[in-house]
Formats: sequence, C-alpha cells, structure tokens
Amino acid sequence: MEGKVILMLLLFVSIISTFRADYVRPQPRETLHFPWSFKSSSQPLQVHVSLAGDEHMRVTWITNDHSAPSYVEYGTSPGEYTSVSQGESTSYSYMLYKSGKIHHTVIGPLKAGTVYYYRCGGEGSEFQLKTPPSQLPITFSVAGDLGQSGWTKSTLEHIDLCKYDVHLLPGDLSYADYLQHRWDTFGELVEPLASARPWMVTEGNHEKEDIFLFKAPFDSYNARWKMPFEESGSSSNLYYSFEVAGTHVIMLGSYTDYDESSYQYAWLKADLAKVDRERTPWLVVLFHVPWYNSNKAHQGEGAGMMAVIEPLLYAAGADIVIAGHVHAYERSKRVNAGKSDPCGAVHITIGDGGNREGLAHKYNSQPEWSIFREASFGHGELNIVNSTHAFWSWHRNDDDEPVKSDQAWITSLVGSGCVAEKNHQPKNFR
Ligand SMILES: *[C@@H]1O[C@H](CO)[C@@H](O)[C@H](O)[C@H]1NC(C)=O
Ligand SMILES: [Fe+2]
Repeated sequence: MEGKVILMLLLFVSIISTFRADYVRPQPRETLHFPWSFKSSSQPLQVHVSLAGDEHMRVTWITNDHSAPSYVEYGTSPGEYTSVSQGESTSYSYMLYKSGKIHHTVIGPLKAGTVYYYRCGGEGSEFQLKTPPSQLPITFSVAGDLGQSGWTKSTLEHIDLCKYDVHLLPGDLSYADYLQHRWDTFGELVEPLASARPWMVTEGNHEKEDIFLFKAPFDSYNARWKMPFEESGSSSNLYYSFEVAGTHVIMLGSYTDYDESSYQYAWLKADLAKVDRERTPWLVVLFHVPWYNSNKAHQGEGAGMMAVIEPLLYAAGADIVIAGHVHAYERSKRVNAGKSDPCGAVHITIGDGGNREGLAHKYNSQPEWSIFREASFGHGELNIVNSTHAFWSWHRNDDDEPVKSDQAWITSLVGSGCVAEKNHQPKNFR
C-alpha cells in the first residue's frame, strides 16, 4: 500500500518535471515498444562494453538468474576462447523493483585495433567487439540525451553506419525517470552497438532518480553503467578519465559537487596534472550541462560549474568540451570566460540524440562566439587525425549518414603553441 502511494507520487513528480519546460519541443517521436520474448533466466542481457584502463575493457551484462556466473570467455577467433576472466556482480532494488544480477568483468590485456569474440557467463550468443587503436587516428561518435524513442532508433542507425572506435555520451541515457524497467529496455536497445564498441558515458539529470529520504541519487546509473573511475584514481563513478590513442578524455559530473573544496575538484586538478601532452596531445572534456549555450533552453544553468572549473580547463589547455542537456546542436569558436580566445576550448552542445521530449528550438540572439546552431536530431563524429588536426562533423538524422550538416577542422592547442610541449605547462601560466 505504502509502496503504491510512493509510486503514484513519483509518477506525479516525473510528469510535472516533463512539462516544466517553457519552450515548445516539436515533433517528438513515440516511445519504442519492446515486445516480450522468452529468455532463459541465465541468458546474458543488455551487454555493453567500456574501456577499463590500459589494454583492458569491462564487459557488463545482466541476468535474471542471481546465481549466474560472472566470467567472460574471449579470443580472436569465433568460438575459440583462449582466455577467461572472472568478474564481479551487483544488484539493486528501487522501491518495488528488483534488478537482475548486474555483472561487470574486466578482460585483457587486449591487442589494439583487434576484433575479439566473447561470451558472457558461458551462456547465450557470441558477441564481438573491436578494441580502439593504440595510436592516432581515432574516431569518436558522440550523442547525448538519447532516450528510447523513434528518434533514438534513427540516431543509433546513423551511428552504426559511421566507422567509429569509441562512443562518447555526455549524459541522459535511458530517460527511465524512476521507472526502472526502462533502464532494461534501454540496455536492450543499445546492446547491438554498445556490445561491439566501448561506450563511455557520464551522467545527466535523468540519471539522478533520487527520492528525498528514500533514495540517493544515481544508484541505478552507477550499478548499470560502471565506468573506469577506480582505474583513473577517482573515488566516484560520477567523474573519471581515460586515455585512448593520443587522447586524454575527462568525464565530469554536472550534478555532483564541483566547488573548490569538493572531491571532484581535487580529483580533476590531480588528473590534469598527470596529462602528458606528448603521449596524449588532445585533451577532451565531457559533462552534461553546457557552459556555452545560446539556446533559451537551460539558459545559464552551467554558470556555477563554469565559474569554478573553466579556469582549470583553460590553464590545462583543454581542446574540446562536449555537453548535452539542451536538445539541439551548437558549436563555438575557441572560447574562454565568455568570449573568443585562441587558447580556449571549442565547446559543442549535442543533446539532440532523440529522447521523447523533442527539440529545443528557441534561441537568444547569436553571441559572437557561436558559430553554428540548429535544433535537429543527430550525432557527431570526432576524427582525431594526428597530434595537430582533428575533423569534427555533425550529422542530422533527416539526412543520409554521410551528409555533414556542420563540419570543421580543429587544430590542437599543442600545435598552436598555447600549450608548451616541453614542460607540459600552459603558456599563459609562465
Ligand atoms: C595532420 O593532418 C593534417 C590534415 O590531414 C595534415 O595537413 C598535416 O600535415 C598532418 N600533420 C602531420 C604532422 O602529419
Ligand atoms: Fe539533461
């Protein structure tokens, strides 16, 4: 009885928060339906992989059977598993909902740029993944605020057509919004892509799902989407970093403390100090709430974090900052402290993955720093070619995948002399 009342309350809260926005979001597509099909209780479900430190990857899957084992068999030929790794597991309950057994198993060392065949817990079908290259060039696909609507399906189809090595997701994954089975359907929806290439994610507001006095924030997200935070010296799954092929990528949390006395701030400072621009000439940062946003949606929401964190990123010479949250696309010039600066970062807002809330199409007048903006569903591709050049493109779902609706060469701060390569210290610090 009590549980029902709380569920009703939750529904009410989530409905209210859906309609709170004062802008009109055109043409959302309906939420996808997932027909029920029989699965044995030990069958691995919702398989996805992520990078887990040097030469290692983490395989995550769920079984309804809580006694199913957590090992992964793998090898470089189909059906021939020359290695096996033991993993760990977790589960959670959320009001009346009980999750399946969530398995996390790290495999490796793996060879770079290699296809591996793997099977989870000795059951079910064989999956295959491709490890990223060890050196540049590398291609990242990028899309935030995915959800699980007809538009999400279209975005995933487009991403599948591009040849990417690693997917980057700046927050708002499933739009479960308290209804936990939606985490499961989202896991099913992304499995074909996320079981084949590493998906590196950070959290948005839709991952919070906290309930005052009942539920801490991010419980479901943390249990299901474990990222390499321990591997990167972080004490929280909500912020971490990883290195892949000449790129140091930092994932931050817009909804966890970031002030100067916070753990996140201290960890970020330490992580930035470790970046070696000879090994990783590119520094890319992702978080959910954009700092440079000329859309009326979520205007100014990133200001608090920007005031504290932007000076750190500027001093470290961050090349590219990617955010989501606003359901539209925008790309800036190199900026710092609110205006163009050749030694600042390029900011990209790409919260147009296709969730049920639709697009944010109302804009303020275009600021001097804003180069391109448009409210359409789509995804981005970041092809880092070498230590000095990267090619960025944005692809609308309305067009065929190869069509680039926005594109730009981005030259690295290392290459332009903003970051002194010798002592790895930014020029404007000396
Ligand atoms: C890096 O790539 C760009 C674009 O293809 C090219 O013009 C440049 O010569 C390359 N630089 C090096 C050092 O290879
Ligand atoms: Fe958001």
